[in-house]
Amino acid sequence: MAYGLQIRDEESGYNKNLFCIPKHYEEDLERVFIPHGLILDRTERLARDIMQDMGSHHIVALCVLKGGYKFFADLLDHIKALNQNGDKSVPITVDFVRIKSYCNDLPTEKISIVGEELSTLNGKDIIETGKTMKALLSKLKDNEPKMVKVVSLLVKRTHQSPSYRPDYIGFEIPDKFVVGYALDYNEYFRDLNHICILKEKAKEKYRI
Ligand code: HPA
Ligand code: MG
Repeated sequence: MAYGLQIRDEESGYNKNLFCIPKHYEEDLERVFIPHGLILDRTERLARDIMQDMGSHHIVALCVLKGGYKFFADLLDHIKALNQNGDKSVPITVDFVRIKSYCNDLPTEKISIVGEELSTLNGKDIIETGKTMKALLSKLKDNEPKMVKVVSLLVKRTHQSPSYRPDYIGFEIPDKFVVGYALDYNEYFRDLNHICILKEKAKEKYRI
């Protein structure tokens, strides 16, 4: 069973003034929660673990948009680096699906999945209850893939018992709403490198 880097419930993150933040978001952020460099370092190791387990299977890497695009791109970059520097390599093709399950900082009842030609799976940004992931996996089964592995950068420790655990986990984090590194609040904050905690007044500012 996979374990990610554990971030404790008491962890408050880092003073944002010690990091580079886009000017347009300076007023909106409370703290830097996971710095960009740490995300990349952890992702590099996930790439190594995945390639070790994968053997010589051809990989169809499926990115779950929009929140997974940064993690997907960085994970693939690390996998490509292993492919061109190691003594074995496997071909990788890419595919994309788009899922929307959040409005403001809350999950919505309706989960929409848009995408085609699904055959193997890789790279999802956040897993909370696992409801979205389960919906996607049952859709993927229709294509009878040989093997499906789920890689998630973040898993949240929620009060609801988790119904799903991915095969690879970057970080296990407290049940907090986070933004940045392609994770959004109503489409804002994807253009932020670090994973951050929002101020309450920012949630009001961008609420729809
Ligand atoms: N931030 C952004 N998007 C999300 C989150 C989150 O904490 N959880 C599920 N989707
Ligand atoms: Mg979102």
